[in-house]
Amino acid sequence: MGKLYTGETPQEVLECNLKLEMEALPLLHEAIACCEECQDYVSRDLLEGTLKDEEEHVDWLKSQLGLNKELGLDKYLQTQI
Ligand SMILES: [Fe+2]
Repeated sequence: MGKLYTGETPQEVLECNLKLEMEALPLLHEAIACCEECQDYVSRDLLEGTLKDEEEHVDWLKSQLGLNKELGLDKYLQTQI
C-alpha cells in the first residue's frame, strides 16, 4: 500500500495531492514501458490515458499552489466558491 498524505490547511492538502501525483507519474511510465515490452497494447493505451490525466492534475495542482501563494489564502479560497 502507498502512503497516506493528509494536510490540515488548503495549502497542505494541495501539496499532499501534488506529492502523491508526482509519485504516481514514474510508476505509470514504468508500467507503460512494461506493457510495451510485453506487447500489451490495450493496457498500454489505458495507462497512457491515465498518465495524461495525471499530468493534467499536476498542472492544475501547481496552478492552485501558485494562485494560493500569489493571492494569499483568503483571496484564493474566494476563487474556489
Ligand atoms: Fe490525479
